Amino acid sequence: MLALLLVPTLALSSAAFAQLVPLGSPGQATAGPYNNCSGTLTSRPTGTATDSLPKVSPSGSIGWERWDLTLDQPGVLLNLRWIQGDPASHASKPSNGTFELSAAFDNGTTYETRLTGQKLAFSGSSPYSISIGQNTLTWDDSQAWFNTSLNLNGLTASIATESIMLDSFLPYAGGIVGQLTKGLFCDIPVTRGRSNIGSIQFPWGEEVQFVARSILSHMFATKPLQSLAVSFGILNLRSVGTQFTDSFIYEDSRAPDTSVHNAFYLGRAESRSTGFEPYTIYASTDSDILSVSQINSTSTEAQLSGCSHTNFVPFTWNYTLLSPALELTDSAGGITKFFVSTTVSTLEPFGTEPVQVESGTALGYTYQAAGPNAAGSLLTEEQSS
Ligand SMILES: *[C@@H]1O[C@H](CO)[C@@H](O)[C@H](O)[C@H]1NC(C)=O
Ligand SMILES: *[C@@H]1O[C@H](CO)[C@@H](O)[C@H](O)[C@H]1NC(C)=O
Ligand SMILES: *[C@@H]1O[C@H](CO)[C@@H](O)[C@H](O)[C@H]1NC(C)=O
Ligand SMILES: *[C@@H]1O[C@H](CO)[C@@H](O)[C@H](O)[C@H]1NC(C)=O
Ligand SMILES: *[C@@H]1O[C@H](CO)[C@@H](O)[C@H](O)[C@H]1NC(C)=O
Ligand SMILES: *[C@@H]1O[C@H](CO)[C@@H](O)[C@H](O)[C@H]1NC(C)=O
Repeated sequence: MLALLLVPTLALSSAAFAQLVPLGSPGQATAGPYNNCSGTLTSRPTGTATDSLPKVSPSGSIGWERWDLTLDQPGVLLNLRWIQGDPASHASKPSNGTFELSAAFDNGTTYETRLTGQKLAFSGSSPYSISIGQNTLTWDDSQAWFNTSLNLNGLTASIATESIMLDSFLPYAGGIVGQLTKGLFCDIPVTRGRSNIGSIQFPWGEEVQFVARSILSHMFATKPLQSLAVSFGILNLRSVGTQFTDSFIYEDSRAPDTSVHNAFYLGRAESRSTGFEPYTIYASTDSDILSVSQINSTSTEAQLSGCSHTNFVPFTWNYTLLSPALELTDSAGGITKFFVSTTVSTLEPFGTEPVQVESGTALGYTYQAAGPNAAGSLLTEEQSS
C-alpha cells in the first residue's frame, strides 16, 4: 500500500524529482515547480507564515490588499474580507481599510455588514495578526491555526480554522513567486481548512456554530484589479476517503493582453499507523500536465497527468458548479461569484491499486471584470454565461 507513496531512496536518487524550490517572498524570481510529484514535501516549508503578512504599507500611497476567509457548511456560506484600499480604484488609499462580512443562507437570504475608514493594524512577528477595528485574524509560525475574532455592528464571532495540509500555495506565473497574472499577487495559506471551533452571533440574536470547510486567500497589487485581470478563478476540490483525502486547488487567469496562466496544488493526507499524515504531491504553474475540459453543459473534468510516483496513473476530478451561492460587485462593476458543490467525483491513484473512486466537494470563486472583453474563467465557462 505504501509502495507508491513514500520511497525516500528513490526520491533522493532522482535529481529531477528531488527538486524543491523553497517558496519565499512574493515578487522574487523562482525556477519551476517546487514539488514535482515526488511526494517528498512532508514538512511545511519554513518561513511561509510571513508570506501572508501585509505587503502593501497601511501608510503607503498606492495599492490595495485583501484577505478572504471563506467558510461553507450546510445552511450558510460566509465570506470574511479584510481590505486595505479599494481593489477596483485607481485612487486606492491603503490607509482606508474595510472589514466586511457577507453571508448567504440556504433559504436565499443574504446578509452583509461592514466597517470602513479604519487603518489596518498588524503584528509582523509571531503570533502574526491583521486587524481592522476589532476584527482580527491571527496565526503563528506553525500555520496550523488561523483564528478570527469579530466584533462589528452588533455581530460577534470567534472562529478557529485549522489548516490540515502542509503548505501554503503560491502560483508563479512568469517565474515570479506569487504571481497569478502579471502584477497581481496571490497566496493561499489555508489550502484545506476546517473551521470547527467557534461560533458567530448575528445582530438579530441568531447563533451559528461552525463545522465548516474553509479556504483563506490573500491577494494584492499596486494597480487596480481590472487592469491586471479580466477574469480569474480559484477552486479548491476535496475528496474524502477512508485511507486518504486529497485537496486539489487550481487557478486560472486571463490578463487584459489576453495572456492566460494556470497554477495548481495537490496535497494528500493519508491514514497511517502513526495517524493522519499530510504531504504535498504536486504544485506547478503554467504546466501542460493539467488539462481542464467541459464534459457537457454542466460538468467539467480536470485531469493531472500521473508521474512515476503514481505509476503514471492520472488524477481526475469531475465537478458541477451550480448557481453561485453569493455574488459581490466591486466599485468598478467587477463581479466575484462564490461557488460550492457537494457532488465532485474523482479518480485518484493510490497504493497498489491503480485508482480509487472517491466523492468530494468544491469551494471557490471567480472574478470577472466589467466590460466587453471580460472573458469567463475556465472554471465556470459555461455556468457564468
Ligand atoms: C516534472 O515532472 C514531469 C512529469 O514527470 C516531467 O515531464 C518534467 O520534466 C519534470 N520537471 C522538472 C523541472 O523536473
Ligand atoms: C473608503 O473605502 C470605502 C470602501 O471602499 C469607500 O466606500 C469609502 O468611500 C472610502 N473612503 C475614502 C475617504 O476614500
Ligand atoms: C433565512 O435563514 C436565516 C438564517 O437562519 C434567517 O435568519 C432568515 O430569517 C431566513 N429568511 C427567511 C425569509 O426565511
Ligand atoms: C487558535 O485556536 C486554537 C483552538 O482554540 C488554539 O489551539 C490555537 O492555539 C490558536 N492559535 C493561535 C495562533 O491563536
Ligand atoms: C453531464 O455529465 C455528468 C458526469 O458524467 C453527468 O452526471 C450529468 O448527468 C451530465 N449532464 C448532462 C446534462 O448531460
Ligand atoms: C468524468 O466524466 C467522464 C466523462 O463523462 C468519464 O469518462 C469519467 O469516468 C468521469 N470521471 C470521474 C472521476 O467521475
